[in-house]
Amino acid sequence: MSTPRNLAAWLIKAGSPLQVGDAPLPTAGPGELVIKNAAIAINPLDCHMQDSGVFVQQWPSIFGCDIAGEVHEVGKDVERFRRGNRAIGHAINLTSGRSQDGAFALYTVIPAKKAAILPDEISFTDGVVVPFALEAAVCVLSLKEPGVAMPGVATPALGLPYPSLQEMPSSSKTLVIYGGSSSVGSMTTQLATAAGLRVIAIAGAHNFEFSKRCGAAQVFDRNDISLAHKVSDAVRKDSGEFVGIFDAIATPETYAHDIAILDQLGGGHLACVHPPPPATDLPANVNAGMIFAVNDIATPVWEGYVTPALQSGKLQCLPPPFVVGNGLESIQSALEKCKAGISALKLVVEL
Ligand SMILES: NC(=O)c1ccc[n+]([C@@H]2O[C@H](COP(=O)([O-])OP(=O)(O)OC[C@H]3O[C@@H](n4cnc5c(N)ncnc54)[C@H](OP(=O)(O)O)[C@@H]3O)[C@@H](O)[C@H]2O)c1
Repeated sequence: MSTPRNLAAWLIKAGSPLQVGDAPLPTAGPGELVIKNAAIAINPLDCHMQDSGVFVQQWPSIFGCDIAGEVHEVGKDVERFRRGNRAIGHAINLTSGRSQDGAFALYTVIPAKKAAILPDEISFTDGVVVPFALEAAVCVLSLKEPGVAMPGVATPALGLPYPSLQEMPSSSKTLVIYGGSSSVGSMTTQLATAAGLRVIAIAGAHNFEFSKRCGAAQVFDRNDISLAHKVSDAVRKDSGEFVGIFDAIATPETYAHDIAILDQLGGGHLACVHPPPPATDLPANVNAGMIFAVNDIATPVWEGYVTPALQSGKLQCLPPPFVVGNGLESIQSALEKCKAGISALKLVVEL
């Protein structure tokens, strides 16, 4: 059998377009899989990495986080996968820095503990919207001890339960999710709902139905001039204990609303996708932090939840994929489309 050829979309230097070229065919170390990618998805992080080189540890670089494809090689000590299995997974070049761990290639190495079998009924194009957002969502909800997201910035520890495959009894806890139509916000809505929480989401009016489809009990318009008042009022009327806000957008505009909501509710957690406002700008009873979406807290979800939840429809492949093109050459235009902004979609390139 001839050795397959690997190709990748390389970042040669910050701010330059990706260049498609040969890449070494990776091999699976202990606990790893090599995936022959059939689809990859784009995340805003990829745009930042391309533009500024942030988080790039080795040049040239292959980055990207979301893959779906067939298991090509199974490393030592991996029991859940066989060669030929259909799988989705979270590629972790972000933390490892190794090029073989970047998604933007024909073959990528992923840790088996950040992968799940993709049921036959679900296409690679649909399944690839899940991995990075899923791991981010678990980090939002279930971290039990604060850690360090970046120097001087703590990770938030809401300590909430993992999503369950069972129907959960009516909730005793309420979480506000700012950015209910974003990839991370909508996935967190799905997992929080599956963990028995009640979600009050904030999204554009055109995405109310989408956010509800992900499980939000109530959705408020991000452009409502009385937003903070309406959200805090809705939380107060809820019978559940208020656990805090997850801000999946994290801009000065959303922080102003977060602070107003928390002020009216007597404090709580503020979990953000970017560094939160400095403590001096927050009420003393607000516990703020930034998530960092590579964390083994997600392992039980990858190992025990993802496949059966996809199979039963409890975990939906949302936001829906928008296929930008086919082949590694299309990744550059997908990144440009992501920079231009998207609404309740995940950009995907098929390979
Ligand atoms: N720290 C981490 O570990 C981590 C992990 C993953 C992502 N992130 C960051 O999290 C952010 C979100 O990522 P993503 O992939 O989820 O983004 P995304 O899906 O590309 O976000 C687009 C969505 O955000 C919504 N949105 C934009 N501004 C909004 C606002 N002011 N209020 C409410 N909704 C708003 C848009 O809604 P409309 O349709 O109304 O425009 C759109 O649906 C990015 O900045 C990303 O870099 C951080």
